[in-house]
Order: sequence, then structure tokens, then C-alpha cells
Amino acid sequence: MNDVIVAATQNKHKIKEIEAITKEFGLSVISRSEAGIPDIDIVEDGETFEENSYKKAHEIMKLCGKITIADDSGLEVDFLDGAPGVYSARFAGVSGDDEANNKKLVGMLKDVPYEKRTGRFVSVITMVFPDGEKIVARGEVEGHIVLEEQGGNGFGYDPLFVPEGYDRTFGQISPEIKNKISHRANALHALREKFKKKEESL
Ligand code: IMP
Repeated sequence: MNDVIVAATQNKHKIKEIEAITKEFGLSVISRSEAGIPDIDIVEDGETFEENSYKKAHEIMKLCGKITIADDSGLEVDFLDGAPGVYSARFAGVSGDDEANNKKLVGMLKDVPYEKRTGRFVSVITMVFPDGEKIVARGEVEGHIVLEEQGGNGFGYDPLFVPEGYDRTFGQISPEIKNKISHRANALHALREKFKKKEESL
């Protein structure tokens, strides 16, 4: 598995996590800028993580002609019927405003008891090949939402999310542990297995 793979995401936090996780299993992932791809905006207008993830990977693969992966991810809260879901990045209106998103989420859950504040992070990673073929992998991590931001690690909703089996948020947990148990880690492990099978079948 010596192929160089381009990651379609521009999110620095995601890139860092993807690089750290894939390094462990011998995939060499480079960022869009390292691949010399111009800074284009891809409109994420899909209704599912799968649609958005495919769109991002496919657009970038067309530009670089190399195997490309894209992560589309978000937080699903059960009490909110799965919201913010695919709208996680722009939950409060402005894309990528983590502080406003977290504030909005806390506001919507403030009267809900802890045991009902369940949810999960979801990551769907699509790998698109130059011949147009694709591999899709989904990873999840279950947990609870807390009402006060805790910890400065990670990004997005991390300071509000306590993964199952832990009593601290992703904001408090070390990156090494997050990268072992996260939705993104689970998706990348599933992707690796599917990619391995594809390579073996060639
Ligand atoms: P995307 O770039 O459209 O996939 O949006 C992902 C959004 O989901 C981010 O902006 C975060 O709000 C949230 N998100 C996804 N993964 C994580 C994570 O690992 N930690 C915290 N928030 C995340």
C-alpha cells in the first residue's frame, strides 16, 4: 500500500487527525495544498454524509488525477432527531463557527437530563480512484453531550462530547486516545480493510 493519497479536506484539524491515524497503517496521505491543488470551494449540498463525502473526493480527484479521500462528518444528537447532522459545520449559520455552534447546541439541550443527551459523531470517508471507482467507509463513536465546554484539545463539538466509557470530553482527552477511538479512526480503519481487499483482488 504505497499509493500517495490526496485528502480533499481543507480543515487543518481533520487533516492532522487523518495523517496521524493513517501513518499507523502505512498509507501516505497528503493535503490538497501539498498536492498543488488550487483553493476551490466545494458546495456541500448533499442530504447525507455519503453524498457530501463523495462529492468532495470526486471533485478533487478530477483536479489531481490521484486517489483521493474526503471525510464528511458531524454530530447526531438523539434528542434533536439527529441534528445537527450534515449541517454540523454551519449549525449556527456561519460555516466553521465552532463557538456559535456549541452555544446553540447547549441552548437547545439545557433542560434535557444527561441520560437523554445521547448522540454520536459520524464520519463517512469516501475514496475515489482515477477510474471513477469508489470505496465508502463509515465510522461512529457514541457518547453524551455536556452543557459546559470542557478542555482545549480537538475542534468543533469536542469540548461538549463525552465518548462512551470515558468521563472526560474529547476536548480533555489526548489526541492519541481520540485518534484511537474516534468516528474518524473507525472510518479510516474500515476504509483500510476495504482498500486492502481491493488491492488483493487485483
Ligand atoms: P464537514 O467539514 O462538512 O464535514 O463538517 C464537519 C463538522 O462536524 C465540523 O465543522 C464540526 O463541527 C463537526 N465535527 C466533525 N468531526 C468532528 C470531531 O472530530 N470533533 C468535533 N467536531 C467534529
